[in-house]
Amino acid sequence: VTESPTQIRRMLPADMVDRGGCPFDPPPGVRQRRGQGAIQPLQLLNGAPTWLVTGLQEARAVLADSRFSSDRVRYPDVTKLQPHEVEQLTAAANGSGSGATVAPKVETRTDGMFVFMDPPEHTRLRRLLTGQFTVRRMRALESRLREIAVEHIEAMRAAGTEADLVPAYALPIPSLAICELLGVDYADRAEFQERTAIALNSNTPDDERMRAGMELYGFIQGLVAAKRDKPGDDILSGLVHDADPPLTDAQLTDVALVLLGAGHETTANMLGLGTFALLEHPDQLAALRADPSLMDNAIEELLRYLSIIQMGVSRVAIEDVTIADVKIPAGGTVIIATPEANRDPRHWDDPDRLDVRRPRASHLAFGHGIHQCLGQQLARAEMKVGLSELITRMPDLRLTVPADQVPLRNEMLIFGVHSLPVTWS
Ligand code: HEM
Repeated sequence: VTESPTQIRRMLPADMVDRGGCPFDPPPGVRQRRGQGAIQPLQLLNGAPTWLVTGLQEARAVLADSRFSSDRVRYPDVTKLQPHEVEQLTAAANGSGSGATVAPKVETRTDGMFVFMDPPEHTRLRRLLTGQFTVRRMRALESRLREIAVEHIEAMRAAGTEADLVPAYALPIPSLAICELLGVDYADRAEFQERTAIALNSNTPDDERMRAGMELYGFIQGLVAAKRDKPGDDILSGLVHDADPPLTDAQLTDVALVLLGAGHETTANMLGLGTFALLEHPDQLAALRADPSLMDNAIEELLRYLSIIQMGVSRVAIEDVTIADVKIPAGGTVIIATPEANRDPRHWDDPDRLDVRRPRASHLAFGHGIHQCLGQQLARAEMKVGLSELITRMPDLRLTVPADQVPLRNEMLIFGVHSLPVTWS
C-alpha cells in the first residue's frame, strides 16, 4: 500500500525526514526550506526534480485539483524515472522542453488499491466503502474500543508497574479495531495481529516481512471467501454482498489491505507519539485531566502538531499546472510537507506550541480533497478512547527513560516511536 510514498521518502535528503533534536517538530531540513516559498523546487537523490509544498493553502490547492493524479500505475512514478525522463522533466522545469510522458501506461485497472487511483475508479470504490462506514457501525465499534482499551490497561497493570506502551497498548487498539471492521473471528485474531505486526514492521528482515505479507494476503483472501459463504455484520461482508456490479475477490482483498495498511500504523503512532508528547508537556496533560471536555480539541491539536505522515502524500501533474505562481510541468511530482503545512504561521498563532485549548481549525493531518482520510472518524474515536482511558486510569503514568532515549521512527514513512517505556505505581 505504501510502496510509492516509501520510495519517495527514501529519495529525500536525510535532514528532511529525520526529525533531529525534537521528536515533535518538523524535520529541520523542511523547516529551513520554508523560507524559500510555499511551493519550491526540490531535487530528489535520484536527480529528479520535484516540488515541495510547505504552505497549508497551497497544499489544499494541489490536493483539490484534478490535474494532479494519485495514480502510480498509470502515470510516471518519480522514483522510477529513467535517466532520459529525468532529463526531459528537468528541461521542462527549466522552461525548455515539454515535460515527461504523461500518457496513461495502462487503460484499465483491476486491483482495489483505491488510494492510488483517480476518478472514476476511485469514486466507485470510495463510495462503496463510505456507504459501509455507517453511524450504527461506528457507534457499536466505539463501545468495543472502550472495552479493548480497558482490557489492555488492566493487563498492563496485572503484569507489573512497567511496560512498553507501543506493543502493550498503542498497536493492539487499531489492530483489534480493524479486526472488528473486517469481521476477523476471535479465534483468528492472534494470528492476524502477529502477521500484521511482522509485515508492517520495517525492522523485520526483508524475507521474513515478505513471507508475513504473503501470509497476510492469503489470510485476507480466506476471509473474503468466508464472507462470501457466510456474511457477518462487518464492512467486508457489506462490500462482498452490496456492491453492484460485484467486486472481484482480488479487489476485495486489496480494499481490505488498504484499510489495514492505512488504519493500523497511523493510529498506533498517534497513540504512541501522542502519549509521549503529552508526557513531555505536563501543563497540557494537566489541563486535559482537569477538563476532559478538552479531549476532542486535544486530538485535533495533536494531529496537527505531530503530523505523523511527514512526506507521504504526493501527486503527479498530468498537465502543466501553475499554482501560487509556480509552474509545475506535466509529469512533475508534488510532495506535500504535511508537518510544515500544519505549522503554517499564516494559519495558526504560535504554530510551534502544543496547545490543547487552541481553537479548532482544520488541519492537513488527514489530507484534503477526494482522498481525504476515509477512516478519520474511526481514528478520532480510537484516539479519544485510547488517550482518555490511559490518562484517567493511569494518573501517574511517566517515562522510565530520559526523553532523548525514546527510539524514534525516523526511518519510517509514518513517524512515531518504536517503543515507549513507561511506568506507574
Ligand atoms: C487516506 C492519514 C487513520 C483509512 C489518508 C490520507 C491521510 C491519512 C493523510 C490521505 C492520503 C492521500 O491523499 O494520498 C491518517 C491518519 C490516521 C489515519 C493520520 C490516524 C491518526 C486511518 C484509519 C483508517 C484509514 C483508522 C481506516 C481503517 C484510510 C483510507 C484512505 C486514507 C482508506 C484512502 C482514502 C482514499 O484514497 O480515498 N489517511 N489516516 N485511515 N485513510 Fe487514513
